[in-house]
Amino acid sequence: MSAQTALPTLQGKHIVLGVSGGIAAYKSALLARLLKKAGADIKVVMTQGAHAFITPLTFQALTGNSVHDTLLDADAEAGMGHIELARWADLVVIAPATANVIARLANGHADDLLTTICLASPAPKYLAPAMNQQMWSNPIVRANTERLETFGWSLLGPDDGEQACGDVGSGRMLEPETIVERLLSSTSSPAERASRSGISGISGKKVVITAGPTREALDPVRYLSNYSSGKMGYALAAAAYAAGASVTLISGPVQLEPPTGITVVNVTSAEQMLDAARSESSDADIFIAAAAVADFRPQQVAEHKIKKGGDSTASLELVKNPDIVATIAGEYASLFCVGFAAETQSLLENASSKLTRKKLDMIVANQVGEGLAFDQDSNAVTLLWQDAQQTLQQRAFPMQSKHQLARQLLDAIFAHYQTQ
Ligand code: CTP
Repeated sequence: MSAQTALPTLQGKHIVLGVSGGIAAYKSALLARLLKKAGADIKVVMTQGAHAFITPLTFQALTGNSVHDTLLDADAEAGMGHIELARWADLVVIAPATANVIARLANGHADDLLTTICLASPAPKYLAPAMNQQMWSNPIVRANTERLETFGWSLLGPDDGEQACGDVGSGRMLEPETIVERLLSSTSSPAERASRSGISGISGKKVVITAGPTREALDPVRYLSNYSSGKMGYALAAAAYAAGASVTLISGPVQLEPPTGITVVNVTSAEQMLDAARSESSDADIFIAAAAVADFRPQQVAEHKIKKGGDSTASLELVKNPDIVATIAGEYASLFCVGFAAETQSLLENASSKLTRKKLDMIVANQVGEGLAFDQDSNAVTLLWQDAQQTLQQRAFPMQSKHQLARQLLDAIFAHYQTQ
């Protein structure tokens, strides 16, 4: 099946679209239109503040349904009351979600129609925050949002960039197209995702990916690590999920939002990463090691902060960390294992020797240093593998965004996986 034959997976889905009072409310009109186009039946619930930015008539015209905004109104309750709306919803999406509505939801308020429906509905709930960047970075707002996430709410965004108030930063509502894409992705079956992505053969397979750096503790306040941002591993996880796979991401400490729909196991050290990799690999089909694992760790982790003392030099005794991908490839012979080779010189030579030494099925050769690869949004790589005659094959992928690169790499990896 190709991407063109994709099923509109929101077909027939009942969506309560909550609109609260922020300037991004004007974007919700487009969101309502796109959701309807994707086949959903939408009932818009507006907070009082939303009326200052957009009229109910706009939503009524776009959705073909009347708009709800009152809790304690006899006529409204006689029509479709709050409990009926809560039961009707297959999904609740709040876009934009202001700091105020997030605070009310996080504290279980039921002081208007929208918050009451949220408390009364068992449906999956999504939140697209939209506010000034300073407000979004306020620890109270972050704590409220995290609290909602612990109660099962899914976060859509926010985005970075220029804001209506003139500030630049994180807090913009995600574009309506992206919100619909995320909803499609998180509500569709593996087969539907595979069909939409155009990458075949991976639907329902389990893919385990390691990402980010590891941190090796030296004492309670210091560690050894590297510059890896985790962007490549996270992009691979998002692309594998979009291709229909069931994805587990074993992540070192990074500043990234986990992609929708995947399972994340957070770890700190190489030894923890190996433990997680071992337990996740027993039922996996494909293992991709994108993590930049620290090769060594301090032999001793000091119980207290190491004092600098009077000496002008100091030395550290280091011990080698386990090689995670080589261990997994050795212990799970039938698992299809893909590694990365981060090299500052002799790229293809070093990468191909890692391919054989670590007994991998494929390796992604990655030139690093001098501003390349680590902590960048783009990358160029070469994929290496041995064909049935044990002849080394290679395919170069030109410089492009890590998201595009992830899709192309997975296409090639999955194609080769299926020939094994
Ligand atoms: N890797 C791993 N565990 C380690 C070190 C590396 O799983 N302890 C994996 C990486 O995730 C990557 C591959 O092995 O997929 C190659 O990593 P790289 O850092 O390029 O090479 P090293 O094996 O560390 O060798 P060297 O540092 O000598 O280049």
